[in-house]
Amino acid sequence: MSHTFSDDQQPLPKFHRMRRRRSSGPIRDFVREHEVHASDFIYPLFISHGVGVRSAISSMPGQFQLSVDQLAEEIADLQSLGIPAVLLFGIPAEKDHLATGAYDPDGVVQRAVREIKRVAPSMLVITDVCGCEYTDHGHCGILDGCEVDNDQTLTLLARTALSHADAGADIVAPSDMMDGRVAIIRHALDRAGHINTPIMSYAAKYASAFYGPFREAAASMPAFGDRRSHQMDPGNAREAMIEIALDLEEGADIVIIKPGLPYLDILRAARDRFDIPLVAYNVSGEFAMVKAAAQLGWIDERRVALEALLAMKRAGASRIITYHAKDAARWLAENNATGSHASPRPDELTAV
Ligand code: PBG
Repeated sequence: MSHTFSDDQQPLPKFHRMRRRRSSGPIRDFVREHEVHASDFIYPLFISHGVGVRSAISSMPGQFQLSVDQLAEEIADLQSLGIPAVLLFGIPAEKDHLATGAYDPDGVVQRAVREIKRVAPSMLVITDVCGCEYTDHGHCGILDGCEVDNDQTLTLLARTALSHADAGADIVAPSDMMDGRVAIIRHALDRAGHINTPIMSYAAKYASAFYGPFREAAASMPAFGDRRSHQMDPGNAREAMIEIALDLEEGADIVIIKPGLPYLDILRAARDRFDIPLVAYNVSGEFAMVKAAAQLGWIDERRVALEALLAMKRAGASRIITYHAKDAARWLAENNATGSHASPRPDELTAV
């Protein structure tokens, strides 16, 4: 080996060769600290009213609103990819001021839960509990003037969660950010005998512009105003720890940090502080940005998406809710099969 720039007469000073552990694909694979797997993913599904509906969501390429009759095929697909869990959102035929569709025993989500448990009992079914998809004004609960009334909304949430558990949901996930909702949902579930149905609360959910495409997907755009009176201010990090502690005190079993990538600091802080399962929500806007840039040929979708998911694991996520789940599961399977972690040949090198 020639040391072009060093003086051959002098021995090199002592230093550590960090590159040794990066010197081949198998060595890099061997020493990697964090990995993503298909079993980390929770896949969101938008359940539409109607029959034979498979309606593309324009701002989320590759994602669809599906009617209940389409679920058997979708769930079989997810199972073949090794994805263990789904998160259900509903798009009801009718919306009203009181979000009555949210707790209708024959509502879209309730029927979807029963259908999924019928075709695939081992698929973990998690339901989003919130009023925003069921109110005609698009807000998360019962309004008092222009504001969501906390305590009236609690009753709506408890009823909704209970109807999901009655339908057979494995886990309920309140996403509304009302104060006290975990306590009231726990109480309602226990009283009805659902003592073993866990609550996965969106404990630290920020008032984020990254939810834009979701609101098209779930038809839940507020008719006026925004959600800043209940969702967290993006400027606050310490406050997220209080939100999580309170939800745990009220009986949450698992907590969600949302959005994911722009809030990795919150995930890390939560991981260091609480010894509980932590879920990152890689939200619609994060997904749409990757898709859009990839469609323009500006980034490599596969590598960017897998890197973002890995970053969430590294920051402390136990599991990730992600619209990339199906693609990512396929890419990971291919990587495993072809050993694509191996170094590319020089002629395959692309700028990184
Ligand atoms: C509320 C809910 C929202 C999302 C999940 N649950 C929207 C909101 O709070 O406005 C956003 C998810 C995403 O952007 O992917 N039911």
